[in-house]
Amino acid sequence: MSTQLQNRNIILGVSGGIAAYKACALCRLLVTHGAKVKVVMTKAATQLVAPATFAALSGEKVHADLFDSPEEISHITLGAHADLLVIAPSTANTIAKLAAGLADDMLSATALAAACPIVVVPAMNTRMYHNAATQDNIATLIRRGIYVLKPAQGDLACGEEGEGRMPEPEDIFEFICALLGHPRLGYDGRTLLPPPTAPLEIGQTKLLPRAFGAGSKILITAGPTVEALDPVRFLSNRSSGKMGYALAAAARERGAEVVLISGPVAELTPPGVTRVDVKTAQEMLQAVESYLPGTQIVIGCAAVSDYRAAQISSEKISKGSEDELTLHLIKNPDIIAAVGRRESERPYTVGFAAETQFGPEHARLKLEQKHLDLIVLNDVSAEDSGIESDFNEVTVFDAQGEVAHLSKQSKRVIADQLIELIFRAAALYRNQG
Ligand code: PMT
Repeated sequence: MSTQLQNRNIILGVSGGIAAYKACALCRLLVTHGAKVKVVMTKAATQLVAPATFAALSGEKVHADLFDSPEEISHITLGAHADLLVIAPSTANTIAKLAAGLADDMLSATALAAACPIVVVPAMNTRMYHNAATQDNIATLIRRGIYVLKPAQGDLACGEEGEGRMPEPEDIFEFICALLGHPRLGYDGRTLLPPPTAPLEIGQTKLLPRAFGAGSKILITAGPTVEALDPVRFLSNRSSGKMGYALAAAARERGAEVVLISGPVAELTPPGVTRVDVKTAQEMLQAVESYLPGTQIVIGCAAVSDYRAAQISSEKISKGSEDELTLHLIKNPDIIAAVGRRESERPYTVGFAAETQFGPEHARLKLEQKHLDLIVLNDVSAEDSGIESDFNEVTVFDAQGEVAHLSKQSKRVIADQLIELIFRAAALYRNQG
């Protein structure tokens, strides 16, 4: 889940363009990442997608009528409590109403009364988009501080081709995450986004002041590996993938290109992240090696099985008459050490140390033995922290000693802080190299 969206109140305005169906996917993305979404539709939009669809996706009543709640003035209350109003799709007609300050339907009235930032996502025929009236209206919105996203190029619903397609829901989602990001993400106390000056290109790297890591290529391993013993049994561990997936989401939200090499877990792939599924340590090593070229940072967050069966039994191992069973195990390759030991094109290499005792000593030893630049120590015997938990508490070491201690917080917050730290350290490493 994205911390930017957790419990944030977002109004999703939907006006009557064919792209209204894509707003369903956007609504779902926002809700699954923790946002509370209230949908406001124009009458034309309700002709294209039934309000019941948005009600089911958002779990909230859909507002399409200015006079739908006589007991409260919804167009005023909605905007007063929202963190963001996103109008996707915005037709030429809706944009014109916003520019003129009209308030003759639920959506335009909500926008006029809104006290929160507004994002307008135009979607229309290319000639309607380029018409001087629409362009003037867009310029007016931008001048008033409204963020307007640039439509995509391609096939349009009217059968023509050109600029006017609504950007994909995942891209709009990323923009929303960036916009709602805590100012800390902008480092040095600066806010993330410049005030709008022109229609904004989709893509966080273009929107943000270039943060450490934006545009860089990062590879993260996550989750457990699973080593078969026979057709039904295996060796594995309790890693849920939550920490590695949170790191992937945090890196992606800062504009990095992220490859996530994952053991079997139940986590959802963060938007915009390339996920490669593997089972065994050998498969994980192979995947890491094949995605390594051009990668600037590797983070080994996976809980890799140190050993695997010397021989996988092709038949189910039966219970014998003996009281004991000896398994013959052999060592798996050490994936992060293979990266750390590289002599050419070596990425900045970060490992994790999952310890139950002598944490700092073991972590430092692993840092040295695996040729790592940084190691993140977490206690995997702690109550409600570390492995499987939604929380973590970590200490980071480099060759000189302790770099940072991050006290117990959600894994997503820990991930944000770790990624900031890693991106900065990796930038220094590259500059020195
Ligand atoms: O997945 P979660 O439930 O969210 O839990 C997160 C976590 C506790 C699994 C994670 O934060 C963590 O600590 N991951 C590393 C677990 C581990 O295997 O630690 P280790 O101390 O055994 O290994 C040290 C480092 O070597 C790790 O970066 C590990 O990925 C790497 N390693 C280990 C063995 C091996 N054969 N290959 C490796 O690359």
